[in-house]
Amino acid sequence: MEKKKLSLIVNGKLVEMEVPTHLRLLDFLRDYLHLTGTKEGCGEGECGACTVLLDGKPVNSCLVMAHSAHGREIITIEGLGTPDKLHPVQEAFLEAGAVQCGFCTPGMVLTSYALLKENPNPTREEIKVAISGNLCRCTGYNKIVEAVELAARKEGK
Ligand code: FES
Ligand code: FES
Repeated sequence: MEKKKLSLIVNGKLVEMEVPTHLRLLDFLRDYLHLTGTKEGCGEGECGACTVLLDGKPVNSCLVMAHSAHGREIITIEGLGTPDKLHPVQEAFLEAGAVQCGFCTPGMVLTSYALLKENPNPTREEIKVAISGNLCRCTGYNKIVEAVELAARKEGK
């Protein structure tokens, strides 16, 4: 198996490792760095469960090769808040009751975080468009949209 050195910033820390050239970013994060908050749903770019931020933009890490993130910056859900100090977007998801099984939640939270960075006061329609690549089987989406609105209010304080 051909390997190559990969060097990138993950959640603010420099990571350097020899990894297979064909490794997906999703597997690098989960299997090599043990950042298992990033989930694998479809493995085909359809569900958004594997969403991470690549240079601040949400991407489906199942579709990105680890080596294409060389020299770039990744944020996973573990980089946003801690169990003791949740990020306001995470707090808002909890407070709005936007989490059921939780499988979609890391991806939803990261997509919402990226949206609010770009657009601190999104309309409901803009929120729906932003999260349209993140599927949720449980919540019916209303609570998620409410959570993003709540997060916008929290962050706007
Ligand atoms: S696992 Fe990547 S989009 Fe579904
Ligand atoms: S909370 Fe279960 S998939 Fe969204």
